[in-house]
Amino acid sequence: MTTIIDGKAVASEIRADLTGAIETLADAGARPGLATVLMGDDPASQTYVNMKQRDCEEVGIEPHHVDVPGDAAPEDLYEVIAELNDDPDVHGYLVQSPVPDHVDYRDVIRRIDPMKDVDGFHPENVGRLVAGDARFRPCTPHGVQKLLEAAGVDTEGADVTIVGRSDIVGKPLANLLIQKADDGNATVTVCHSRTDDLAAKTRTADVVVAAVGIPELIDGSMIAEGATVIDVGVNRVDADTEKGYELVGDVDFESAKERAGAITPVPGGVGPMTRAMLLYNTVKAASLQEG
Ligand code: GUN
Repeated sequence: MTTIIDGKAVASEIRADLTGAIETLADAGARPGLATVLMGDDPASQTYVNMKQRDCEEVGIEPHHVDVPGDAAPEDLYEVIAELNDDPDVHGYLVQSPVPDHVDYRDVIRRIDPMKDVDGFHPENVGRLVAGDARFRPCTPHGVQKLLEAAGVDTEGADVTIVGRSDIVGKPLANLLIQKADDGNATVTVCHSRTDDLAAKTRTADVVVAAVGIPELIDGSMIAEGATVIDVGVNRVDADTEKGYELVGDVDFESAKERAGAITPVPGGVGPMTRAMLLYNTVKAASLQEG
């Protein structure tokens, strides 16, 4: 029988585990605060930001939000960032990506106070992670690690193939999983759009993580019998639904499920974990700043 890994349930446990730290902060007169910044009006980004705000309210984190017009100058966004860096009520914040084309996201990230960088994207935090001394683990890779742990998958000595080399998922996850740590010690292969014979690399893996943004790229024929499959993909594809689209992962769930030992669904797998780990990082940021 294939285990369907329930990301919603694991995320609920993580949120419940945060309440103790939030109460400790409250006893000291501090309430963790998370700000989201949205430049422009991309509908998917608006949805993501709204969900993050709602998550905060549910666990007792104070949500803040700043909208920046899509045609504003980069300097206007930098000003918002400077204000958030100085705001003692905001312990962590993120600038939702993508930003409009006339803004360089790297220039944005570099201006974020690394102590408030709950995405873990600032070069100082990336460097710390690679050095094995992470301050904020980026939310999706951290969520994937927590899902593997919850599913009872030991990465020690395991062959893990990651499909996708993004700065947000593939690269940090590879770095985390190769580390000498209880949740690391894996042998990691990172594949991408120029990889020859992708199936040969996924078929030998104990764990396949799909984070490439191509709908249903990984099918059952590419999965070893009994492997664990983690699907990070969230792709909108045209469909005869009320919204005119449906969300599908990077894995062809139906065929992969026939061979996998355990697999995450989309939605309800990695997505809720990413959101939970953002709350985790916010509480950590508050504890570091108030402690
Ligand atoms: N856009 C898509 N994913 C993310 C994320 O994890 N953080 C931010 N800031 N923007 C995103």
